[in-house]
Amino acid sequence: MSPPRWVTGFLSYETAKAVVVRSWAVGAVNRAVQLLILAYFIGWVFLHEKAYQVRDTVIESSVVTKVKGIGRYAGRVLDTADYVTPPQGTSVFVVVTKQILTENQAQGVCPESEAEYRCAADRDCRGRGAATGSGMLTGRCVPYNRTLRTCEIRGWCPPEVDTVDVPVMLEAENFTLFIKNSIRFPLFGFEKANLPPPGSGAELGRCRFHPELQPLCPILRLGDVVRLAGQDFPALAATGGVLGIKIGWLCDLDRAWERCLPRYSFTRLDGRAPAAGYNFRHARYYRWHDGTERRTLTKAFGIRFDVLVYGNAGKFGIVPTLINTVAAFTSIGVGTVLCDIILLNFLKGAEHYKARKFEEVPEASVPAPPGSPTVCPPGALGGCGRDKQSTDSGTFSLGL
Ligand SMILES: *[C@@H]1O[C@H](CO)[C@@H](O)[C@H](O)[C@H]1NC(C)=O
Repeated sequence: MSPPRWVTGFLSYETAKAVVVRSWAVGAVNRAVQLLILAYFIGWVFLHEKAYQVRDTVIESSVVTKVKGIGRYAGRVLDTADYVTPPQGTSVFVVVTKQILTENQAQGVCPESEAEYRCAADRDCRGRGAATGSGMLTGRCVPYNRTLRTCEIRGWCPPEVDTVDVPVMLEAENFTLFIKNSIRFPLFGFEKANLPPPGSGAELGRCRFHPELQPLCPILRLGDVVRLAGQDFPALAATGGVLGIKIGWLCDLDRAWERCLPRYSFTRLDGRAPAAGYNFRHARYYRWHDGTERRTLTKAFGIRFDVLVYGNAGKFGIVPTLINTVAAFTSIGVGTVLCDIILLNFLKGAEHYKARKFEEVPEASVPAPPGSPTVCPPGALGGCGRDKQSTDSGTFSLGL
């Protein structure tokens, strides 16, 4: 009894045999695919993506900023110390463009100013959280002005009224921002700054950044930054907002040191959502002449600038070059898969090629010694003694 068919099928070994096909069409496809793969690796992987380089994506950076300009606001002339906060020149800073001042606040009790604390009787002011208000509710309903009554609070009095219209310091459009940015790629020990080289120092100080004419000047006009971020200065100054100044260092260190240059780009970081805008409150404390503590509360609207530095550097390395070269040569073999599919399924005479490509060899294929009795089973006539041709491999045949 012979074993079942699936066992013989499973327990057989397939090995590759080279078949040279003299077909113009398949030959052309084969070369075309190889050429395509080669072109992809040389053009894209090696030349464009620079796969022969070691890449350092860790960029160490320090940013120092300085804003200059004189503005006028609420009858006063303001300088840098008045409108820039924090004053240390960090990479994130605010230029205050609008202020709502509440002067001479003192600790005490007074009526709330927010509209939602309107009341008719004391019971309206009980049992509600005071998280949104200006102080702790005392539970009493008191007159706010002649016609209105609001809940009474204990806290800094009088409370702030921030629904008033106040002007904007438009001079801020002409203020200048100087950015000093030093970077380092630790893997290559490469250091650079965004300042022009020492020799040409005279130019610095007078230049103004311009995306085409002066793309390397580190002195930027605030109005230009706002415009390049696609915003309108008066509108942004009134609501406040967050702008990103991005400095990109994408460096090919196989080239000259001078060719590693920063690229500036600008974007608004706080969305255009309903809650867009930027403001914060701070207070100045002092002692009144009667000895009590007073403060001036400021609600400041301003443009916050975030200087963001990113970048990477690449330099020739033998390891990535070898790995990618090997990958390129291996990938050229992919062409045979496509050619086999075409050859065995779609070409005229596919059956013929299939029969030549896949060949079945029986286990006892040792040639019989001359003179021995024939091994041909009875009934086998034409095919006896010759290798059987097979159409049975599924590797590349779709069975069409
Ligand atoms: C900014 O400067 C320009 C020229 O120096 C001047 O014409 C313009 O009025 C200034 N803008 C503001 C808002 O002061």
